[in-house]
Amino acid sequence: MATEIKKIGILHGKENTFPQAFVEAVNKIAPKGIMAEAVQIDRVAQGETSGYAVIIDRISQDVPFYKAYLKNAALLGTSVINNPFWWSADEKFFNNALATQIGVPVPKTILLPSHVFPPDTNENSFRNLFGHFKWEANMETVGFPAYMKPHSGGGWKSVYKLNHLGDFYAKHPQTGQLVMLFQESIDFTDYFRCYCLDRKYVKIMAYEPRNPHHLRYVKENEGQANKKLMDTIHDYVLRLNHALGYDFNTVEFAVRDGIPYAIDFCNPAPDADVHSVGQENFDWVVENAAKMAIDRAKTFEEGKQNLTWGTYVQNSVVGLGINAPAAPVAEKTEKKPAAEKKAPVKKVATAKKAKTEEVK
Ligand SMILES: Nc1ncnc2c1ncn2[C@@H]1O[C@H](COP(=O)(O)OP(=O)(O)O)[C@@H](O)[C@H]1O
Ligand SMILES: [Mg+2]
Repeated sequence: MATEIKKIGILHGKENTFPQAFVEAVNKIAPKGIMAEAVQIDRVAQGETSGYAVIIDRISQDVPFYKAYLKNAALLGTSVINNPFWWSADEKFFNNALATQIGVPVPKTILLPSHVFPPDTNENSFRNLFGHFKWEANMETVGFPAYMKPHSGGGWKSVYKLNHLGDFYAKHPQTGQLVMLFQESIDFTDYFRCYCLDRKYVKIMAYEPRNPHHLRYVKENEGQANKKLMDTIHDYVLRLNHALGYDFNTVEFAVRDGIPYAIDFCNPAPDADVHSVGQENFDWVVENAAKMAIDRAKTFEEGKQNLTWGTYVQNSVVGLGINAPAAPVAEKTEKKPAAEKKAPVKKVATAKKAKTEEVK
């Protein structure tokens, strides 16, 4: 780092409320020697540092140039949140598979080949698949109604609810080259969207996806859900984010018969706009994101790798024969419905986490 000041940068796109509030919050509470700003890029050259101790990435999913910029920055020491290598590799089918190994309920899910061949491929490229793949028998194991949605996607794009096989044949051609999940529909009584920052700050928000966008964060349901359910959701949120290695993520749950099923937990640049999440949730995200970034800047070591990874990367859940490890210990920060106290924690997973969480 050329300068002695440790700089925290936020890399963002069209967002107009969270990045600005984040910069302001950091600059208000950061100790001397740490400051925040919107990232400024005047050159990207191999092996050159970004000049930032910490970068919060809110946009690289839409801008491949930024993804490459962030990997180079991380290699040279910047603590990039979220880990750009892992984020590049991740997708929702893997996430669901991981959930089955760490004891978090997920809807029955199978993977479907794309309707249209990827570029530069033809029938011959698919000899391992065609003639073997049992489309209808696979779908029968999940049943109808079902959700069909991209294995790597977001923002409700190309999400279909299918009521019968005819629906599938009508809709699948519309998905083009997308690889789709075919997933059991959870007929839910409650739905929650949960922020998880720094793998320890958790905010559970009642959410009604069937409402128009600006009315989804519902107040009425809050507090109605019982303590046991809140504890379970809190535990699952931490399990998922520790295993996946995300420091800034949201996890959505649909509750059916008292069981929270994880629906969408691959949101490394989750919506944090004050106009959709509401003032209270917004303030919570700004405050905790600022705290996380300042902590990272404090522990930042020049010339070292300062990224964090998920526990599964080094600590294969399958290899260890762990099917339902306990959640890692995490700090409770927000004042919260008593309901969000955590369930007892088994020691085993915690000890492993300490050894494997950080790769330096
Ligand atoms: N298996 C499911 N059961 C019930 N509802 C679902 C299911 N999958 C998706 N949905 C509904 O569709 C919405 C969008 O799907 P989601 O997986 O969150 O995709 P995205 O990443 O695009 O937000 C969810 O918020 C939920 O309301
Ligand atoms: Mg979603």
